[in-house]
Amino acid sequence: MTDPLCILGIESSCDETAAAVVLRHPDGRGEILSDVVLSQLEEHSAYGGVVPEIAARAHVEAMDTLVEEALRQAGVTLKGIDAVAATSGPGLIGGLIVGLMTGKAIAMAAQKPLYAVNHLEGHALTARLTDGLSFPYLMLLVSGGHTQLVLVRGVGDYERWGTTIDDALGEAFDKTAKLLGLPYPGGPAVEKAAETGDPKRFSLPRPLVGEARLDFSFSGLKTAVRQAATEIAPLSEQDIADICASFQQAVSRTLKDRIGRGLMRFKETMHGLSETPALVVAGGVAANKALRETLLSLCSDHGFRFVAPPHRLCTDNAAMIAWAGLERMAAGFGPDTLDVQPRSRWPLDADAETLIGHGKRGAKA
Ligand code: KG4
Ligand code: ZN
Repeated sequence: MTDPLCILGIESSCDETAAAVVLRHPDGRGEILSDVVLSQLEEHSAYGGVVPEIAARAHVEAMDTLVEEALRQAGVTLKGIDAVAATSGPGLIGGLIVGLMTGKAIAMAAQKPLYAVNHLEGHALTARLTDGLSFPYLMLLVSGGHTQLVLVRGVGDYERWGTTIDDALGEAFDKTAKLLGLPYPGGPAVEKAAETGDPKRFSLPRPLVGEARLDFSFSGLKTAVRQAATEIAPLSEQDIADICASFQQAVSRTLKDRIGRGLMRFKETMHGLSETPALVVAGGVAANKALRETLLSLCSDHGFRFVAPPHRLCTDNAAMIAWAGLERMAAGFGPDTLDVQPRSRWPLDADAETLIGHGKRGAKA
């Protein structure tokens, strides 16, 4: 019987500094020994978005302590780990440098192999850590910087089926909140306000609905929200709630159409599949209950299993980076050499064309 593989993961691509220790047992099962995340929300909230320079400095200040804490909670020393995995892209370059350099320094000092991990691969493989999901499956990543529908065929084997041609969905929530005077981050605030609102009061556009391509677009929706708000200003609390509910309804309908097509395409492409097909959701927007319900009912209509990892593992964390490193180790990839460079842009599917505006913020994943 062989020992499990043990890895230290490091994440710093956006506004969360994180470190984790994760095991991969010989049967392929994952086990999180520690998972420490320090959010920089307070540092950035005054600016209504992530400020790259502030983020990089905050990562530098917190990283060493977080790594120590992750090792302490896991009850392991650097000698006891088998490898180090650090996010090396995509994301904010200052933060990536901090995490990757820390990973390199530890790998060199402890003489352990280093795995430079794609942050998006971390999101894409999380469902295998939490739910032991087998390949292939479809993944919807909806965060502050990305909105992508990806076919996950295997470790390192991804096909992007759809992406946003302008704003990411989380960004649309954040911008909507900002123009309604709601706090940052906007997603939770819009969701809360929507609870008491009338989703039928404003008829907002459902971008790209009905189109065969599987891409997304949210900037027109944001503009429509601005127009609706300007027309009835000054806004009462009820007006704000009604706009939020109408916005969320438009997003739900859009996702229903786009993802519904994706599920059908998955079934056509993978028709020999013996297992129940699965849709995995990841990213901060996956916390939204109304959107989750839409996806859940869509999956049951199409005979899909709906897999939503716990919220903590849907948002940015280092356990997913550690796990992606373990998956790469187990699949015989890498390790990387110590001259590996951080990359602010690093698509999962290198063959997918870059769409106008896609990832223009380039910051959040
Ligand atoms: O994945 P995440 O934590 O960070 C990155 O973008 O990397 O996602 C943050 C995004 C923000 O845009 C936030 O407004 C959105 O997720 N979000 C939500 C909700 N909670 C967070 N959007 C809609 N509904 C929510 N409940
Ligand atoms: Zn992310």
